Amino acid sequence: MVEARPRSTVEAGVQPLRRRPEKQLPYPLSIYQSAVGKKWVMAVTGVVGMAFITMHMLGNLKIYLGAEELNAYADGLRTVGAPFAPHGFLLWGVRLVLLPTLLLHVHAAWWLWRQNRRARPVKYQSKRDYIAADWASRTMTWTGPIVLLFLAFHLLDLTWGTANPDFRHGDVYHNMLASFDRWPVVVAYVAANLALGVHLYHGAWSLFQSLGVNNARINTARRVFATLFAVAIVGGYVSTPIAILIGVIE
Ligand code: HEM
Repeated sequence: MVEARPRSTVEAGVQPLRRRPEKQLPYPLSIYQSAVGKKWVMAVTGVVGMAFITMHMLGNLKIYLGAEELNAYADGLRTVGAPFAPHGFLLWGVRLVLLPTLLLHVHAAWWLWRQNRRARPVKYQSKRDYIAADWASRTMTWTGPIVLLFLAFHLLDLTWGTANPDFRHGDVYHNMLASFDRWPVVVAYVAANLALGVHLYHGAWSLFQSLGVNNARINTARRVFATLFAVAIVGGYVSTPIAILIGVIE
């Protein structure tokens, strides 16, 4: 007699893989548990990052006004609000906002990337859509880690001074000159800032979509904004190390 073959894995006695259901967090934390919530958090943290990156780039340009101006500005960031506010009040306030912002941005990006890889590929409407979406998401996955690596080196170089050949506390002008006297460092800064530019371009473009502003009529404005923003930021940042290396700033 032929034995009947089991029709399913359950019938065969094989336990199907069950994911542990995620514990529902209380509102508003529960928003972050969904993919839409994570995209929203990525967009909002991205905007905070864009604001910092813009202010920091504008501050760096003070180097063209000379050592005194730049160092006075850096000192002002630490003494603002004195004598009422404690020393470093603004700087520590910014750090307290930036650190969780960066952690949330990276966590949401990693979660969405992982989910995207696990998901079965869904067909795009046209080949053009496929190419555009693919290029955008692919650049984000390599430009993000490059910017993170850059940030680690950058802090060691110009904030803590361990990677700087001649670091002097409080002398930002001197520290920049000491660092950018090394051409491999300048090449690394330029490359990392170009990667940052690509990241910012796609971030500035897609944040509208993540925030639900998805209107074909404003697509041209979105593209212009993303392009101008990325070009201005990269240009402002890379000008300093190059100007120091070629002797425009001495
Ligand atoms: C060529 C490009 C850049 C130059 C010349 C530069 C210069 C500097 C300098 C001199 C400092 C120390 C300031 C001080 O101690 O008062 C600093 C700190 C910092 N930079 Fe940059 N920077 C550049 C690009 C960037 C980029 C692209 C980012 C972010 C993506 C960034 C993020 C930071 C952060 C987070 C700090 C530490 C601020 C703190 O003290 O908490 N920098 N940078």
